[in-house]
Amino acid sequence: MITDYLVIGSGIAGLTFAVKIAEEFPERKVVIVTKDSEDESNTKYAQGGVAIVLDKDQDSFKKHIKDTLIAGDGLCDEAVVKMVVEEGPKRLEELLLWGANFDTDPDGAFSLGKEGGHSEYRIIHHKDITGYEIERALLTRVRQLPNIELLPYHFAIDLITDHHIKDSGVKPKTCYGAYVLNQKTGYIFTVKANSTLLATGGIGKVYGHTTNPTIATGDGIAMAYRAKARVKDMEFVQFHPTALYDVEGGSSFLISEAVRGFGAYLRNKKGYRFIPDYDDRAELASRDIVSQSIDNELKKSGDAHVFLDCTHLDIEKFKKHFPNIYDKCLENHIDIETDWIPVVPASHYLCGGIQVDKKGKTTLENLFACGECTRTGLHGANRLASNSLLEALVYAHNIYKYHSKHKLEAVNVEIPLWNEEGTVITKEHVLIQHNLKELQALMRDYVGIVRNNARLKRAVKRLDVIYTEVEDLYRESKVTTSLCELRNMINVAHLIINQSLERKENKGGYFNSDNINVIVG
Ligand code: FAD
Ligand code: SIN
Repeated sequence: MITDYLVIGSGIAGLTFAVKIAEEFPERKVVIVTKDSEDESNTKYAQGGVAIVLDKDQDSFKKHIKDTLIAGDGLCDEAVVKMVVEEGPKRLEELLLWGANFDTDPDGAFSLGKEGGHSEYRIIHHKDITGYEIERALLTRVRQLPNIELLPYHFAIDLITDHHIKDSGVKPKTCYGAYVLNQKTGYIFTVKANSTLLATGGIGKVYGHTTNPTIATGDGIAMAYRAKARVKDMEFVQFHPTALYDVEGGSSFLISEAVRGFGAYLRNKKGYRFIPDYDDRAELASRDIVSQSIDNELKKSGDAHVFLDCTHLDIEKFKKHFPNIYDKCLENHIDIETDWIPVVPASHYLCGGIQVDKKGKTTLENLFACGECTRTGLHGANRLASNSLLEALVYAHNIYKYHSKHKLEAVNVEIPLWNEEGTVITKEHVLIQHNLKELQALMRDYVGIVRNNARLKRAVKRLDVIYTEVEDLYRESKVTTSLCELRNMINVAHLIINQSLERKENKGGYFNSDNINVIVG
C-alpha cells in the first residue's frame, strides 16, 4: 500500500492530525492504522477534561504556565509550556467546530472544573466522559472525509527505515512507513508513506495495575527506539493517586482527580485526613506528591488502600457532574453518599517518550510523533492534570502546519516485503502469558512509585532473561499481536529501568530512596 500520510493510532493525537491534513489536502491520501476498534484508546477513557484558560477575569495564561512549571518540578521546557498553554483556546474552537460538546453553566459559559496542581478552575469537560465525547466527534469528522482510509484491527509491527533497504544510497536515518499486520487475516503488508506519524499512546499495561486500557503497550515508543530515534525521560511514569481499589490489581477504573477538585477528602482507614501533613495544598497538591504520600501511608500502615470520602458533598450536583463514576461505584456496591471509596495509586501516564521538537519532528527524517508517546518538554518530571489532551491537540496542529508549509518528497525506494522465512505458528502462548505476568510483577515490585538502586539493578537482570526468551521466540515465530506487544513492553521496561538508573536526583514523579532528597510524613 502507498500513501501520502501514514498515521499509526486513532486517539486524539492521530485523529486530530488526520482530520486537519485531510481537510487541507483533499487530493492526498491519509491512511490510519489502529490495532483495536476505531475508538479504543486512552483518549476514550479520559474523564476530567482539557485544561484551557477561558475565564480571563479570574485566570490567565501566566497562571496556567506557572502551575505547569511547578508540577514539572523544574524540568519543563518553558518555551514549550508557553506555546501549548497559549494555543489552547484556538484548538478548543476547532474541537467545537467538529461537533464536540462541553458542559456549560446556566449562564451559557463553559463549566470549569479544578484538579490537582491547578490554582484556578480551568478544566472544560463533558460530564466525566470528556475523552469519549472528543473521540466521538473526531471519528464522526474522519468518516466525512473521503481521503482518509481508517483501518481498525491493523497492528503496526515495525517502522521501515534504511536498515531495511540495503545498498540503495538512501538518506540515512529516514522513515519510509511501516510493516502492518492485518489482525483478522494474519497478512503482513508494507505501507509506504511519504510521512509517518506515531500516535500510539501510553504504556500503562507494562505495569499491569493501570488506569489504561489494554492497548497501552508502548508500541510506538518501542518501534521508534528500535529504529534508533531518540527516546527520553522514560523514568517519569505518572501514577494516578485514585484508581478504584481492585483486589486483582489489574486494569482499574479511575476516580477522576476532578472529584478531589469538587471537594472530596482522602482518608486512611482510621478516618484521618493525612494529605495536609504532606503538602499545604492538601488533596489538590500535584499528582506526584499525592501518589507518593498515599504510597508512604500504605507502607506505614500495611493497608491495601486508602479512601476517598465524598459523603459531605452535594450528591445531586455530584451525580450531574460525575454520572459515570457514580454509577461505577454503585455497580461495585459503593454508595458514595454514605460509603467511602477505596482507592490506590495506579500507573496512569508516561511523561517521557519519543523526543520531538515543537513541530512534532522526531530525530528520524519523515517520522513525526504526537500525543502520549512523545516527550515534548511540556510535562517535565510530572504532568499537570488535564494537560495531555491539550498537548495532543496543539502538537497535532503544529505537525499539520509543518506539512502544509513543507513539500514532502515522495518515497522513491524499493521496500522489501516482510520476511517470515523459517518462522512457524507459535504454540508457546503459555510462554507469552507467563513472561507478561513476570514483566508486570517486576515493574510493580522493583520499578514502582518509590524505587531504589538495588531493586532497579535486580530488575535489569530479571528483564534480561525475559528479553532473551522473547527475542528467541520472536525470531522463530510468525508474529502475533500479543507477541509483538510483549516484545514492545520489554523494550519500554528496559528504557524505564535504565533511564531511572541514570537519574541521580529525585524530581516530580521520580523518587529513588537512595537519592538525597527524601519525602516527609
Ligand atoms: P491514545 O488515545 O491512547 O491512542 C493511541 C492509539 O494508538 C490507539 O488507537 C491504539 O489502539 C493505537 N495503537 C497503539 N499501538 C498501535 C500499533 N502498534 N499499531 C496500530 N495502532 C496502535 N488526559 C487529560 O488531559 N485529561 C483527562 O481528563 C484525562 N483523563 C484520563 C483518564 C484515563 C482513565 C486515562 C487512561 C487517561 C487520561 N488522560 C487524561 C490521559 C489522556 O487520555 C491520554 O494521554 C491521551 O488521550 C493520549 O492520546 P493519544 O492519542 O496520544 O493516545
Ligand atoms: C483525571 O480525570 O483524574 C485524569 C486527568 C488526567 O489524567 O489528566
